[in-house]
Amino acid sequence: MNIAIDGPAGAGKSTIARLASKKLGFLYVDTGAMYRAIALYLLNNDTDITDKEALDKALSEISIDIVYADEVQHVILNGDDVSSKIREERVGNMASKSAALPEVRKKLLFLQRDIAAKNDVIMDGRDIGTNILPNAELKIYLTASVEVRAKRRYDELVEKGQSPDINIIKDDIEKRDYQDMHREIAPLKQAEDAVLLDSSYMTIEEVVEKIIALKEGKKA
Ligand code: CDP
Repeated sequence: MNIAIDGPAGAGKSTIARLASKKLGFLYVDTGAMYRAIALYLLNNDTDITDKEALDKALSEISIDIVYADEVQHVILNGDDVSSKIREERVGNMASKSAALPEVRKKLLFLQRDIAAKNDVIMDGRDIGTNILPNAELKIYLTASVEVRAKRRYDELVEKGQSPDINIIKDDIEKRDYQDMHREIAPLKQAEDAVLLDSSYMTIEEVVEKIIALKEGKKA
């Protein structure tokens, strides 16, 4: 069985998908991490992504593997576990830019479909229900207001010992939403058959329970 969760940055997709997969015994697949790994490579190599030749060369040098240790997804970029490094804000911003490129999306499409074909998965991202897994048994579009999403990201960074500026975070989120929703290829949008969940005023547990109830409903 495949469950697709799409939605904008900071809607809580990864936390919720992780908890729901644990309860259901599914594999959690974080596709954003794959885009982030590519972005990290492009940043580290100062690749000019507007130069098609440079981009193709960089992509040909990138190998991404997904491995699971204790049910936690690790992203391996050319043999290195980059699971922590890809979490920086600069990597997320670059991921949003490079994810608009067809060459980048093509590189990850097969990997994502292959994992979903072989496992019961909850896969989260931007185009899972619309493009990667159009036949997923359950599709969720998870969103929340920009203010709530910025506050969540702010709290996360404070928790990590950083002193972020909430206005910069909000601007980044708005910019990323715009880029993700307005790109030509596989833009972020709610699939016609997706269930809309607005988590602005829901707790994590409430959202997880709702997804599990929806999944149980599908079985009946
Ligand atoms: O964690 P957060 O929601 O901030 O972002 P993410 O899920 O790690 O994804 C980072 C970026 O990768 C997004 O802003 C998207 O532009 C891109 N992405 C995508 O285009 N398609 C996906 N299936 C997943 C991520």
